[in-house]
Amino acid sequence: MIITPSILTADFSRLGEVCDEAIAAGIDWIHLDVMDGNFVINKTVTFGPAVISSLRNHVGPDIKLDCHLMITNVSDTWKQFADAGVNLIIAHIEACDDFSKLINDMREYGVECGLVFNPDTPVDDVLPYLPDLDLILVMSVVPGKGGQSFMEEMALDKVKKLRSIIDEQIAAGGRKTLLMIDGGIKSHNIGLVNDAGVEVAVVGSGLINDKATIAENLVLLHSELDK
Ligand code: DX5
Ligand code: ZN
Repeated sequence: MIITPSILTADFSRLGEVCDEAIAAGIDWIHLDVMDGNFVINKTVTFGPAVISSLRNHVGPDIKLDCHLMITNVSDTWKQFADAGVNLIIAHIEACDDFSKLINDMREYGVECGLVFNPDTPVDDVLPYLPDLDLILVMSVVPGKGGQSFMEEMALDKVKKLRSIIDEQIAAGGRKTLLMIDGGIKSHNIGLVNDAGVEVAVVGSGLINDKATIAENLVLLHSELDK
């Protein structure tokens, strides 16, 4: 399983150093949570393309930057994030009127395309796009902040359904759409989501906290996955 750290709980004056620490611990993806003060219910603003472009320069070309856009009018702004150097843009289906066009535009532009959907959005809404997506992201908390509790039943139901449909898609020679989860993932439930077929887990407060170092937290997560 790939673990991608959400830097939302990091000290933003030390973002570069936090990324260095994660990379030294063996991480090769970084999850960037972009909020525009409008899309999420608590109206949070985080950071944008300028910060991301600096982080790209800092970490170099080999780290995969996956960018979770919690922004309205995603069709108007996603290119700024591609230009800032992210590899994968994950856009909310709730923030886009024509997701098929968005996928085509991103593919033409040369950036990977992911779709994310909120806890109250039914899984059936995303199924038509699966064959064309590089990644599908199941939100296991209401987006807006780190450190919330994992919504187990809803999330696992969606993961299991998506796992079986993606497996059928792959068996039929289709795209290997990656299955990702975001929100409330910690050492006590990472095994559960791994067993349900998740391939990429976003971990924020479970990795970046003041209880232990990123390396120590990562060892703990991996020890659960090895069980
Ligand atoms: C929620 C974000 C996250 C989340 C992860 O809006 O998308 O990526 O903060 O943090 P934890 O792991 O603390 O839930
Ligand atoms: Zn996220």
